Amino acid sequence: MSAILARLVNPVVWRIPGHGARKLFEFSLAEHGSMLDLKAAARLTPSADRRAAYVRHLLDETRHAQMFALRSAELRKRAGLESLGFPNADTEALFEKLGEVGFLAFVHRGESRGRQQFETYRDWFARQGDDRSRALFEAILQDEKQHESYTWELLVELTGGESAARAELRKAVLWEAWRTWRRAGRFLAEKLYFVLMLVLYAMLAPFRLMAAVMRPAKPGWSLPSAEGQVDAGERPALPAPSRTNA
Ligand SMILES: [Fe+2]
Ligand SMILES: [Fe+2]
Repeated sequence: MSAILARLVNPVVWRIPGHGARKLFEFSLAEHGSMLDLKAAARLTPSADRRAAYVRHLLDETRHAQMFALRSAELRKRAGLESLGFPNADTEALFEKLGEVGFLAFVHRGESRGRQQFETYRDWFARQGDDRSRALFEAILQDEKQHESYTWELLVELTGGESAARAELRKAVLWEAWRTWRRAGRFLAEKLYFVLMLVLYAMLAPFRLMAAVMRPAKPGWSLPSAEGQVDAGERPALPAPSRTNA
């Protein structure tokens, strides 16, 4: 699905001036996000072998983030633009949320999707004669294939068989759909709040105008009316303090 989508949008995505560099930077951000999730996995897994695998994986993702950010900066420099810098992604605490099996299913699906998408981009740049971008995707693809296969092996090992592993992948599909739905809901709620506030603001504008006409603002400082009328010489004397024995 992601490969088909990538194939369809390729002619547009990479040809809009400035868009290619931003797209590469988005990849860099995604790689950095994966690295943070794997860092948590390496810290929390009870298995020394899996910790080693997660550390290897996170080092790959760190390198991918750098490679994408660098290529993005090259393209922006060529267009006379500032680099977007190094990505700084957020973490969703996926390992803590999903547990190790759920996390592996989620990562495996992500790796598989990424591999298909990157294959499409590699082929696109090869056809366009952009050897530098083709080589970038080709190099990253070697790692992504390995990530896809080792996460599957671990998933099978932890669930006890291929059919149980496939059931976990189906659960991951449902969880991702739920997450997308919630994100879309949050996005719509934010937009709706903005529109409602705008309408409220427009509705209150005539009242603000009426208030301005009825009580025009005076320039300069002013004291509250009661205080302003009391002359310094006429201030009432304060009662003398009385002593009390405690
Ligand atoms: Fe990667
Ligand atoms: Fe990966």
